Amino acid sequence: MPREIITLQAGQCGNQVGTEFWSRLCAEHGISPDGTLEDFATEGGDRKDVFFYQADDEHYIPRALLLDLEPRVIDGIMTSPYAHLYNPENIFCSKDGSGAGNIWAQGYAQAEKLCEEVLDMVDREADGSDSLEGFTLLHSIAGGTGSGMGSFLLEKLNDRYPKKLIQTYSVFPNNEEVSDVVVQPYNSMLSLKRLTTNADCVVVLDNSALSRIIADRLHIPDPSFSQTNQLVSTVMAASTQTLRYPGYMNNDLVSMVASLIPTPKCHFLTTSYTPFTSDNVEKAKTVRVTTVFDVMRRLLQPKNRMVSIASSKRNCYISLFNIIQGEADPTEVHKSLLRIRERRLAQFIPWGPASIQVALTRKSPYIPTAHRVSGLMLSNHTSIASLFKRTIDQYDRLRKRNAFLDQFKREAMFSEDLGEFDEAREVVQDLVNEYRACETPEYLQHGQSGTDGA
Ligand code: GTP
Repeated sequence: MPREIITLQAGQCGNQVGTEFWSRLCAEHGISPDGTLEDFATEGGDRKDVFFYQADDEHYIPRALLLDLEPRVIDGIMTSPYAHLYNPENIFCSKDGSGAGNIWAQGYAQAEKLCEEVLDMVDREADGSDSLEGFTLLHSIAGGTGSGMGSFLLEKLNDRYPKKLIQTYSVFPNNEEVSDVVVQPYNSMLSLKRLTTNADCVVVLDNSALSRIIADRLHIPDPSFSQTNQLVSTVMAASTQTLRYPGYMNNDLVSMVASLIPTPKCHFLTTSYTPFTSDNVEKAKTVRVTTVFDVMRRLLQPKNRMVSIASSKRNCYISLFNIIQGEADPTEVHKSLLRIRERRLAQFIPWGPASIQVALTRKSPYIPTAHRVSGLMLSNHTSIASLFKRTIDQYDRLRKRNAFLDQFKREAMFSEDLGEFDEAREVVQDLVNEYRACETPEYLQHGQSGTDGA
């Protein structure tokens, strides 16, 4: 029985990342851009129905909702070769089409107004699955639509489908660039509150780390969003590999998430992927001999992590899960794990098992690859708290001056007072404290954070 996953993509970033993701899944499953099965796609054994369903005319259709408050990106999809892939009933673009102006409050308020229409789409899609496992939201937390509408959706999904898993791929802004969105820290803070309270699992990707990795690996100093999104879609495809190419274990998202998230609040994951190459870039084409140990060792290197965070000595892994694709046998994996332990390459929390979980999966037979083995690491690491702390600091600097609040105050949620901001800050500070507490041996005795977290 498939355990279906419905993907909601909101705003420019969500829809652009989604576009890359679906084109990658189509390629991996031998589905053409118009949804028909390619002639060469004769090898069975994959589970297309987790992410696609078949229409009456046998076309494969993504279980995806494309949502935006302005038409530019969705219009682009509708004039691309993938225009006929999606169910037209699952595309929602606001009629006035002016977007959320990079203001979280506008994205949230517009989503509230459109609530019925959007939730009808969600319910229809959910009714169309036999055994729905959960929802995946793709969005950025810095603009107006992905963050504001995304936040609204998270609250509603949580309310309406309390037993279903809610996972997000959340793109954090590039911290090394001066942002043209001055209210980015406000948008991020308000979104982070919902990611903390309404999502079960958040895969954090930040644009600074993605750009850095592409510059290092592919020798592209100033990557376009399309190039960045290729990396994101590679990660998304690899992290769903065990669901789409099932083996004996880790065949559903719930069990994967359960093994990565032992305490409900600390549910923010980072990812690493290796080797990342691109066929379009000459310098990046070098074929290296890869071994399982080599892949696992590289996955643990901070430079391969898709989040830019400053680690300190007290930071540690809460959990760690490697998905190894390609030719790897269990003995090789076992030996690699022993070497990692001997060399103390991974530092774990003092109150739980120091185990690296590994899933071996098959690769798509339809995509040629130069690498014998490749790997994705999903990890729950306490250094993620420094990313949230950075958001708090940036927020405090703006808020101290009460800068740029006018456009927020125009919306009902902020017209009377700014309590929503204070509450969001408190939730995020508690989250930072929780991660800090996690680094201490007493964590389980106290149950909750007790440190000052600063
Ligand atoms: P409005 O424009 O206000 O309607 O909201 P939106 O959610 O559509 O905004 P957007 O998704 O553009 O959010 C802005 C943030 O997302 C910035 O930090 C951008 O750098 C980032 N971003 C936008 N598009 C992409 C993309 O395709 N890929 C990646 N990785 N980041 C993106």
